[in-house]
Amino acid sequence: MGLRAVKIDKPLPRREEAVTAGPEAEESWSNAAKNIAIDIGYGFVKLLSGQQAIRFPSVVGRGRELNYLSPLSKNNQPLDNLQVNINGQNYFVGSLAIRQSELASRSLEQNRVVDPNAKILLLTAIGLLSQWEDQKFNLVTGLPTSYYANYGKEWIRELTGQYNIGIRQNGQMKQKKVSLREVCVIPQPFGTLYDQMLNTIGNTINQELSEMIVGIVDIGFKTTDYAVADKLEFIEHLSSSTSTGLANVHRLLANYLQKNFNLEKQDYELDEIVEEAAVRVAGKAQDLSTARNEFFTEIARKIINEISSRWDYRQFDIILLTGGGGEALAQYIIPHFPNKVLVDNAQYANARGFQKLANNLFANR
Ligand SMILES: Nc1ncnc2c1ncn2[C@@H]1O[C@H](COP(=O)(O)OP(=O)(O)OP(=O)(O)O)[C@@H](O)[C@H]1O
Ligand SMILES: [Mg+2]
Repeated sequence: MGLRAVKIDKPLPRREEAVTAGPEAEESWSNAAKNIAIDIGYGFVKLLSGQQAIRFPSVVGRGRELNYLSPLSKNNQPLDNLQVNINGQNYFVGSLAIRQSELASRSLEQNRVVDPNAKILLLTAIGLLSQWEDQKFNLVTGLPTSYYANYGKEWIRELTGQYNIGIRQNGQMKQKKVSLREVCVIPQPFGTLYDQMLNTIGNTINQELSEMIVGIVDIGFKTTDYAVADKLEFIEHLSSSTSTGLANVHRLLANYLQKNFNLEKQDYELDEIVEEAAVRVAGKAQDLSTARNEFFTEIARKIINEISSRWDYRQFDIILLTGGGGEALAQYIIPHFPNKVLVDNAQYANARGFQKLANNLFANR
C-alpha cells in the first residue's frame, strides 16, 4: 500500500443540505422496494426513519401479556413499547424488555450470524419501518471490522428472504409480510465514511475523501472498531476491533455510585446517568461530572494507546472519530492527533452512511 503523507490544512468540504429522495413518490408506488439502513450495536440499534435517526437499546426479552399500561406513563412512546412476534414467539424489545422482562440484558454474541437476538433486533427495526402489510426492502447494514471478512457473506445469506413479523402498533398487534430483497453488509465504520462522502440520495459530494487514506475510530458500547480505507478500499490488515467501550465507563461509574451513595444501578440505567452525568438519590439530583470526567479520561487514555499501537497517525490524511463513545470522548482524544475530527451526531453516523449507500446502490430497484 502506498502511503502518502498529505497534510490536511483545511476542513472537509461541508456536506450539502439534505436533498430528499422524494419519499412521497416512492410511497405512492407500494411495489417499489424501500431502501433502509440498520446499525446493530451492542448498546443500541440505530436506524433512519425518514430523515430522522432513532435508537432503541439492543435488548431482547421474552414477551407476555401486559395487563395494564398507564395511558399517562412517560413510557408511552412507540419506541419504548416494542413488542414483536417472530416465528410464533413473543418478544419485548428495547426499553420495554428492560422494564418488563426478567433476565433481559445486553447480551449480543460477538458473532451476530449465530445470535438469534441479532436477527430479532433487526426484524423489529424492519417492522418499525414497514408501512404496509406486504412490503419489499433493500437493506444496508454492518458487522464489526473483525467479523466482516469471515461472516459478511453468511450474514447476507442469513438475512435475505421473507419474514412474517407481528408488531404492536397503536395498541394492536399488526401482521406484516416483509421481503428483504437486496442485502449489503459492510464493515460498520465504513458507514461513517459514506456519511461524510455522500449526500442523502447517495451521490458523491466529497470526492476528496474517496481519494484519501482514511482511518476511522468507532467507539461503541462494548467495542472500539479501527478501520482503514485507502481510496475507499478496506485495508484489512490495518483494521481491527477491541473490547474497549463506554461499557467500561458504566462499570466504573456503577462502582462509584455503590461506594459513595450505596446505590445499586443496573447496566441499562447507566446509559442515562452517564449521558447526563447526574443521578437522583432520594429525590435529589447529584452531579457526577467530576467522577465522569475522571473515568472518561481513563478510557480515553486506553483508546489513545490502542490507536498509537496500531497506527502511525501520520500515515493518514484524516482520522474520523465516530460512534456514541466517540462523541463522549472526543474532547479527550482529539487533542492528541492533529488530523483527527469528530463527525456530526456521531452515534448515528454509521446508520446515516448505510442509508446513503443504500440510496446509491439500489437507486432504481
Ligand atoms: N453525547 C454523549 N455523551 C455520553 N455518552 C454518549 C453520548 N452519545 C452516546 N453515548 C453513549 O455511547 C455509547 C455507545 O453508543 P453506540 O450506539 O455508538 O454503541 P454501539 O454501536 O451500540 O456499540 P458497539 O459499537 O460496541 O456495538 C452508549 O452507551 C451511549 O449511551
Ligand atoms: Mg457501533
